[in-house]
Amino acid sequence: MRNTKILGVGMYLPEREVTNFELEAINELQTSDEWIQQRTGIHSRRFVSEGESGTDLAVHASNQAIQNAGLSPDDIDFIIYATLSPDYFFPGNGCFLQDRLFGDRTIGALDVRTQCCGFIYGLAVADSLIKSGQYDHILLVGTEVQSTALDFTARGRDVTVLFGDGAGAVVAGPAQGGHPGVLATAMHSEGKYAKELWTEYPASAHNPRISHESLDQGRQYPKMNGRMVFKHAVTRMVEVSREVLSKAGKSVEDVDLLLPHQANLRINQMVGSQLGISEEKVVNTISWTGNTTAATIPICMHEALRQGKLEENDLVLLTAFGAGFTWAASLLYW
Ligand code: ACO
Repeated sequence: MRNTKILGVGMYLPEREVTNFELEAINELQTSDEWIQQRTGIHSRRFVSEGESGTDLAVHASNQAIQNAGLSPDDIDFIIYATLSPDYFFPGNGCFLQDRLFGDRTIGALDVRTQCCGFIYGLAVADSLIKSGQYDHILLVGTEVQSTALDFTARGRDVTVLFGDGAGAVVAGPAQGGHPGVLATAMHSEGKYAKELWTEYPASAHNPRISHESLDQGRQYPKMNGRMVFKHAVTRMVEVSREVLSKAGKSVEDVDLLLPHQANLRINQMVGSQLGISEEKVVNTISWTGNTTAATIPICMHEALRQGKLEENDLVLLTAFGAGFTWAASLLYW
């Protein structure tokens, strides 16, 4: 059976930078740079400009990933697209990306809806499709446009200051020369906590799917039980990291680099310290990206490469936690 390797990485952030000071200047939001930095580690994030969509961001990140893999779009034979903020209710963004990148080449496109864990779930699917020999080169993309769904009043400030827009992409393909590539992945979900972090409207569970009343109540904005999410995130990311290490027969000392989901710097510091992974082995981007949900891990990979921290044959641990609740981890040789 073949092994799966990440062959190329790309990322793209929209040009518009929004600092904490800009949010502080919105009187109705009632927040401050000091609060945001102390509680989250975020200094700034990027927001899309008028008319810029998640698919637009995905095109940039994907082209870069394909180029960095030394491939051309003609080599890609499947798309996996992870996002919680698709451009439209349906169809999924995978189809829009297929059109933009591949035109008349009607390759398959699968959308993944597991929020902050979307990239790791997507990698697990890509790994299986490559290992089974069904596809050779899979484009795995995570994008998020959060900024168009945020409540810029005090009612939504806990969530609003956390999120940013962005895209990350990788090309996964067969490893050459016996390289082990992806060793193990573990995925979990616990739907009893779905409403602790969710967006309720628009929804086919409601008829009509959106109403003036629900809009007036702000039920189209994400809602979060922050403290609960924080506690579960630390516990579950540590737990699932140990699970993949055990599945692969590796120990925490073997890990060269931890690339965690970027929701809160304090979460990642606690995960690193509970696992016993030192700070210099952890890459964080949250200070300048905010939480870009499904895009965070490929953006983190790109940053690790840019900093020269990620080298051939390094053992890399990916872990994430998010709405659902969902949590996941993957262990792979770079
Ligand atoms: N600015 C100023 N004050 C604020 C803000 C803000 N942006 N947000 C909340 N506060 C206030 C609260 O109202 C509260 O005030 P009070 O003491 O007068 O009641 C006070 O700050 C403390 O609030 P807490 O919620 O207890 O603050 P906490 O230290 O827990 O930090 C935070 C909140 C940053 C949201 C944290 O709980 C967190 O990061 N949670 C996890 C986020 C996460 O991981 N999300 C998952 C990923 S997203 C996804 O999957 C879609």
